[in-house]
Amino acid sequence: MSDLVPDKILSLLKKKESYISGEDISAQLNISRQALWKHIQDLKDSGYTIEAVPHLGYRLEASPDRLFEFEVSRGLNTKTLGKKLFYFDTLTSTIDMAMDLGVKGASSGTLVLAESQTKGKGRLGRSWFSPKYKGLYISLILRPDMLPTQAPILTLLTAVSICEAIKVVSGLDTRIKWPNDILINNKKLCGILTQVVSETDKIDFVIISAGVNVNNDKKALTATATSLKEHKKEEICRVSLLQEILRRLEENYLVLEKKGAGQILEKWRQHNTTLGRRVKVYCQHKHNEGEALDIDSDGGLLLRKDNGLIEKVMAGDVVHCR
Ligand code: BTN
Repeated sequence: MSDLVPDKILSLLKKKESYISGEDISAQLNISRQALWKHIQDLKDSGYTIEAVPHLGYRLEASPDRLFEFEVSRGLNTKTLGKKLFYFDTLTSTIDMAMDLGVKGASSGTLVLAESQTKGKGRLGRSWFSPKYKGLYISLILRPDMLPTQAPILTLLTAVSICEAIKVVSGLDTRIKWPNDILINNKKLCGILTQVVSETDKIDFVIISAGVNVNNDKKALTATATSLKEHKKEEICRVSLLQEILRRLEENYLVLEKKGAGQILEKWRQHNTTLGRRVKVYCQHKHNEGEALDIDSDGGLLLRKDNGLIEKVMAGDVVHCR
């Protein structure tokens, strides 16, 4: 689908609610009628329902729920995020592809997305269930002008942006469990993973990855996971959700660049479900326990331990005790 001609054909078909003649399309795109016919067959094979009526021409009846570059780019009014987009039907992991592109110098804002992953990666060596056409599996390359130690704020920013986008597109309220799980009714809807590639004190690039359970059926999910469809009781348009995530990410990223972390942290606090609770934070065979007081400007979680001391944790798995 990366050839521009099919994109242009779709664009013409989408502009018209009624028929557009083959002659018109061929003339506007400067292609032969035979080439047009071949492209129409390819589009049909990709899932588009296109009606062809002699003497009238072609009419688009339905588009498939696919994240094709053309569908995502159409109407995406971001400046940089997602403007360069790599779409795949199946990948081992979008992270592997993004890492490769990042090392080769891909520009900031480059997005990798896949309809399914065979080796989706979660935090702490876990896997991420990535069934075809059901969720969003994305990795975004950013080249922020910040210290590697400041990068965790990008995870918080991403979580906030995804919550905001979900609200806009589905109307559903979500909560963030520190640092980066998005929940509905205490069940996991979305996971975020941030990887930093840096030389000592300078970030080369960051890969922000997210997996969102969108149209998964309840019975196909584990007991601790949920999907937007489960709560909305209807399918959500993945293209619209992805576009809104990119818009929100760009908006919040600009705020971070211009005004610092303050507003992002405040939005995170409003969406969070961890602060004020007694929590256990598990990290590499040990755990910290205490009251989750606040997050620090670098995204760390401030815990008040039972001995009254305040400790900052930067990573780990949170269990809410109450
Ligand atoms: C978590 O464990 O909570 C983080 C899950 C991150 C999953 C996403 S899906 C897209 C990207 N590619 C992967 O292999 N993992 C991330």
